[in-house]
Amino acid sequence: MLQRDMSAQNDASKEFVLAGSLEELKAKGRLVVHGRHRPILVIYDRGRVFALDNRCPHMGFPLERGSVEDGILTCHWHHARFDLESGCTFDLWADDVPICPVEVRNGDVWVKTTFDHADPTAHWRSRLADGLAHDLGLVIAKAVHGQLADEVAQADIVRQVALFGAQNRDGWGVGLTILTALANLLSALPEEEAYLALFHGARRVAADCDGEAPRRERAPLGSRPDPAALKRWLRRWTNVRHREAAERTLLTAIAAGASPAVLADALLAADTERAFADSGHSLDFINKAFECLDLIGWEHASAVLPTVVGQLVTARGAEESTAWRQPIDLVALCEEAASQLPELFAAGRGVHGWSDHAALARELLGDDPARIVDALKAAIRAGAAPADLGRSLAYAAALRVARFGNANEHADWEAAHHVFTYANAVHQMLKRMGIANTDSHAVRAVLHGAMALYLARYLNVPPARIPGEGGERLDDLPADAEMIRAALLDAFDRQRQVDLAARLVARHLTLGHPPQALIATLARAVLREDAGFHAYQMLEAGVRQFTAWGDTDEGRHILIAVVRYLAAHSPTERAALQTADIAQRLMRGGELHQEAGAS
Ligand code: FES
Repeated sequence: MLQRDMSAQNDASKEFVLAGSLEELKAKGRLVVHGRHRPILVIYDRGRVFALDNRCPHMGFPLERGSVEDGILTCHWHHARFDLESGCTFDLWADDVPICPVEVRNGDVWVKTTFDHADPTAHWRSRLADGLAHDLGLVIAKAVHGQLADEVAQADIVRQVALFGAQNRDGWGVGLTILTALANLLSALPEEEAYLALFHGARRVAADCDGEAPRRERAPLGSRPDPAALKRWLRRWTNVRHREAAERTLLTAIAAGASPAVLADALLAADTERAFADSGHSLDFINKAFECLDLIGWEHASAVLPTVVGQLVTARGAEESTAWRQPIDLVALCEEAASQLPELFAAGRGVHGWSDHAALARELLGDDPARIVDALKAAIRAGAAPADLGRSLAYAAALRVARFGNANEHADWEAAHHVFTYANAVHQMLKRMGIANTDSHAVRAVLHGAMALYLARYLNVPPARIPGEGGERLDDLPADAEMIRAALLDAFDRQRQVDLAARLVARHLTLGHPPQALIATLARAVLREDAGFHAYQMLEAGVRQFTAWGDTDEGRHILIAVVRYLAAHSPTERAALQTADIAQRLMRGGELHQEAGAS
């Protein structure tokens, strides 16, 4: 195969380069020209000349090694087929191959070595829509990379994906939760990790929507009942599992201009009609839908919020499970306490400055449910606001994970995880509602979370030791911050490095190294894996809760909980990372398989 470096032969416009004579091309059938950023394949076929990126858009294999028949170019690696004239693929998983203009002038063949799009933003938006519609990971990765390179705002990319997910699936799902969790972390991530985060979020939304029926919109009621009535109705329709009625009620509240705080109050009150519904996922999804709207704009509320209603009304409550009924009826305990909440909050209303979050958390980890409920009641009387209770609950749940005993079954990690992510969601929702909008219905979420935490107490028998306590120095580990973080990533390369990973995090924080760099490393550790749904939730909820505490003992415990969970679930095959890497290399230019392309 003839290859040429034509940089010295640019024509006056400096855009076209000479590929060779037409006679030479006719004789050889194809030529490869080294463009500025990528090799270009020039093909002669049945009297016409075509020029296209020589790197297969699938994985970069040199297309010069392919075959041409009947106007169709076939790559000889995975046999993707392309229309020679347009570069469009017949095999969507491979993506289209970029083409470039080619001209024959006085018997010579000239090609333009750039592959510009007239409107790059519109092009990559369209490609992202295609990738999402057909669940094409490689196309999604390129479209995300292309938009970022074109300086499209990260929030805009999140918006494109979130609205696709809301419209193309009959209900909020795992994909939209992952997208939102990762989008929440974007501001803490370096450029490379931001690309991976957006890619993972988008590919999981696409996978969620693949083969699903699109969502059918419903309309708000023609009237505008007051917020209290809408809240009552939403609870009523949830109780009788009447989805359409609940959706129309919610849409009416949105159309009436209800604030996010009022909507949060109504949905939390409805969700807590059942205890710890769907192992906490129902409430977690509701919270994530709110956070999604914070990211993409509340003008999309009517498209996004109703997607949580399907799960809200169908969720199974813990009241249907034996563990919540026997030997102690935890549901009855919660109901009795909930009936006292208005009076308790009234008693604590004039008291300010409650800050015993850590002490309350320790009481929530007790092994007597009645005493746990009493501790919550005492805190309310002493002036704790609902969001304070949520913060204590989330910290206590993080301690369950931080002290998760290694003798437990691997699947038990999920029991600890469920309580923690639920507690984080409760905390975020109660913060959003503020004191003015909070009533006893919504605060039932704290009681339910406390009972779920109580039921998970066996996970800490015996408790794992938390490293870095009592001035423990961990001097056998590196002291340099970068070395600690490198050792942490190295630990994630091997299975069952839970304790080492926890010690490294403790070492990093107790030496006073910046937690932001540590959080970015934890994000890197997750984003390079084919992480499960819960890993993303754990990372994001952990970072949220760490932010509430800062670089304190409690903050350290929370990040230790995160790293222990993540280390228990690493490594994976890292196949998605390979896709993201190939897309990035194809987009950046250069030759992916230089050795294979040499003549
Ligand atoms: S089909 Fe060309 S590299 Fe896979």
